[in-house]
Amino acid sequence: MTRLVELDANGPRIVDPDDVDDEKGDVAVCQCGLSASFPFCDGTHRRTEDEADGVTYVYDDGEREAVERIVTVDEDG
Ligand code: FES
Repeated sequence: MTRLVELDANGPRIVDPDDVDDEKGDVAVCQCGLSASFPFCDGTHRRTEDEADGVTYVYDDGEREAVERIVTVDEDG
C-alpha cells in the first residue's frame, strides 16, 4: 500500500523539549502523512491498518479512495 499526501509546509519543524509526550516520554513523528498534527503522530495512522498491498490511496475530508498509481518521469534524467 501507498498513500498520496499533499503537504503545504515549506520549511522544517524544529523539535524541542515541549514536544515530548509527558506520559510516554517520547516524540512520535508521523510517517503515514495523515496526522492533523503533522509532523507529529496523532493516531490517525490507525485508519491505514486495513490498506491492501499494491494499492495506492488518497484520503480527503475523512474519506479514503483507492486510485491508480501516478508515475512521473523526469524528462532530464
Ligand atoms: S504515523 Fe501518521 S498519524 Fe501516526
